[in-house]
Amino acid sequence: MRIAAAIADFRKARAGFKTIGFVPTMGALHEGHLSLVRRARAECGAVAVSIFVNPTQFDRADDLERYPRDLDRDLSLLAQAGCDLVFTPTPADMYPEGFSTTVTVGGVSEGLEGASRPGHFQGVATVVLKLLHIAEPTRAYFGQKDAQQAAVIRKMVRDLDAPYEIAVAPTVREADGLAMSSRNQRLTPSERAAAPVLHQALLAGAAAIRDGEREAEAVRALIRGVIGAEPLARIDYVSAADADMLAELTRIEGRVLLSLAVVFGEVRLIDNLVTEPIG
Ligand code: PAJ
Repeated sequence: MRIAAAIADFRKARAGFKTIGFVPTMGALHEGHLSLVRRARAECGAVAVSIFVNPTQFDRADDLERYPRDLDRDLSLLAQAGCDLVFTPTPADMYPEGFSTTVTVGGVSEGLEGASRPGHFQGVATVVLKLLHIAEPTRAYFGQKDAQQAAVIRKMVRDLDAPYEIAVAPTVREADGLAMSSRNQRLTPSERAAAPVLHQALLAGAAAIRDGEREAEAVRALIRGVIGAEPLARIDYVSAADADMLAELTRIEGRVLLSLAVVFGEVRLIDNLVTEPIG
């Protein structure tokens, strides 16, 4: 496995492969990330992973500062998972003095996470487009865990004719249903014990839809009720939206993205689920 920090070095190493699957990450790797690496390995032959805690997508300085970092552990997990190339740039490499270009994706980036975290998706879109142009992958892999992020990146690539295939892979969960996230390690033991309520609430919402509920607000209220019963959880938002456009629904129809953001103490967690097509 080759490791390159400088953009030019990474490009040189990348040039040794004809096709490559690319998995952009912020490190603190877990099974969710590794599932993307393994899929890339199976589908593309060679795999490149970037590890870069992108400062421009953090809307809170304390969240950036406390974001978990463990490069040695990440590199050993990647070597075991069969990664060929790792890109570990510094903020100064990615945003040199005078950097002044940003990518704003309209529409899909505006609600949900975009509304709660101003500037977040501009930071994500800009860094992902840079990373894609540096890695020039055959296909790049993203997780359904960050459903809106995946939608923003798909839209950006389509709108800007960026010549990369985008693949989105299912959310990997802990045995108790909690979606794997680098932020989970910052939960206290009691918060960790309470956190599976997110997935339980989403499952309750999906079950209500399966049983015939067609009022989107009733589904959102049901999900809020399940989370509200957990005293350590503070709801940021609960959404029932069109899975493609991400617009909030009045009537339940089509593929529905049930998503939420909930704060436990100092940690903000997100999760989502997409229903079978309705109607
Ligand atoms: P990060 O949070 O490290 O996630 C990297 C990739 O792993 C993303 O595509 C994310 O959706 C996916 N992922 C995270 N948890 C997952 C899980 N439990 N199951 C499946 N996939 C999961 O997302 C980012 O980094 C950044 O915004 C990035 C795209 C790297 C741009 O900075």
